[in-house]
Amino acid sequence: MINAVRFSHTPDITVVNQRQFELHYGLYKNYVNSINKLTCEIEHASEDIKEEANTTNGLFRSLKRGETYALNGVILHELYFRNMGGTTSAPKEQLKAALEERFGSVDKWREDFVATAKASRGWTILVYDERGKCLRNILLDGHDEGMVAFAHPLLVLDMYEHAYFFQYGSNRGAYIEAFMQNIHWDIVAQRMNYYGV
Ligand SMILES: [Fe+2]
Repeated sequence: MINAVRFSHTPDITVVNQRQFELHYGLYKNYVNSINKLTCEIEHASEDIKEEANTTNGLFRSLKRGETYALNGVILHELYFRNMGGTTSAPKEQLKAALEERFGSVDKWREDFVATAKASRGWTILVYDERGKCLRNILLDGHDEGMVAFAHPLLVLDMYEHAYFFQYGSNRGAYIEAFMQNIHWDIVAQRMNYYGV
């Protein structure tokens, strides 16, 4: 059973206003409810439903597709809400060094991340690629579409329209710029340390 997380720092978030956040948080809670319901349904799926499982249709395929979609919906939103609203304007120490090593400079990383966000229909994520031992900016058009195996999320940006449209309308550039100016770099650094980068 997964419980929805309250994000205590949200009133200080400058990327989105309170109403935009509340709308988005409601959607996040729907994913929490969905994964709990799906987990229960999968656990109690009958033998008939499992025997009829196939790659085209059927209830079991639908449940399993829904499982990864809803679970990533929960995880990615929690990472996103937490990595907004920082007070430092730039990455420090080993995070700065890692970005410089992979992209040449922090500005070059920023340029690539922003372009990735503009091209994304869903998520833009700075990940640590454990296999390649390097940082990457990746694009996911859906919660369950595009994540790289052995890639650990460090910085997550939600580019679905629901993340910004109430406040910014179709001005995606303004939303991206506000996000880039208010990254919680300490949280990103904590994730980096957690993965042993
Ligand atoms: Fe979202």
